[in-house]
Amino acid sequence: MPDSVPQRFSDPAALRHCMAAWREAGERIVLVPTMGALHRGHLALVAEAQRIGDRAVVSIFVNPTQFGPNEDFSRYPRDLEVDLARLGEVGTDAAWTPTVETMYPPGFASRIEVVGLSEGLCGPFRPGHFAGVATVVTKLLNQVRPDVALFGEKDFQQLRVIQQAVADLDIGVEIRGVPTLREPDGLALSSRNRYLSPEERAIAPKLHGVLAEIALASRNGTGVAGRIAAGRAALEAAGFRVQYLTVCDARTLAPVERVDGPARVLVAAFLGRTRLIDNLAV
Ligand code: PAF
Repeated sequence: MPDSVPQRFSDPAALRHCMAAWREAGERIVLVPTMGALHRGHLALVAEAQRIGDRAVVSIFVNPTQFGPNEDFSRYPRDLEVDLARLGEVGTDAAWTPTVETMYPPGFASRIEVVGLSEGLCGPFRPGHFAGVATVVTKLLNQVRPDVALFGEKDFQQLRVIQQAVADLDIGVEIRGVPTLREPDGLALSSRNRYLSPEERAIAPKLHGVLAEIALASRNGTGVAGRIAAGRAALEAAGFRVQYLTVCDARTLAPVERVDGPARVLVAAFLGRTRLIDNLAV
């Protein structure tokens, strides 16, 4: 197993210099944007980056602009040394670890809004979240200028928002989604799973169970409303506070009554103080 410390950059000029040298050498650069607290899901993205490219670059930046005032920005897990060691174990080429001051210097005044795709699902529950994501990802893409950037499908709405922003703004990078990695009991891997108490952790896989039932039942073209109502009731009975549970068109994210094309069943729910999201292809 490779075990070398990735080249670490905190200065944009040094990062650009290195990326330019790799590009000039004809190397294909693949970026994995993260907020750290790396788990097996992130390492699977790095493995995919290594499979499809010559250089795997991971950014680690807990982006303040995508957290609402009552969200978990201050308690979001941060352990850069552990993250860098993990990246070293899997042979990552470079880690881009900018500070908040580097990303948002005094006078910073721009924001990328992706209308439509940002407005449903998590949008009303997390005002400003997707503008924060689209803005920081645009910056990361401009800083690294990768050929491809990889994002987990667990944040499916985020993936669609970023794909739209990149297409609309002619950023010239391929955005690829990578299937969600799960625990053996179905719980999607997430940095926020560590907030769950043992009791909540035991209940949490129910989220995936309900999604799987709805996905299976929706495949045969029957209406989805009854299945969703039953799934929501089952989750509430197990102790979740459901924000949304819905079947959407996989491209537009508009809710569908009946599945007759690519679709996705998506959920967001609180378990105690922890907000979990997940989704499955129908
Ligand atoms: O999915 C995440 O970890 C973040 O939203 C991202 C894409 C790194 C932007 O901060």
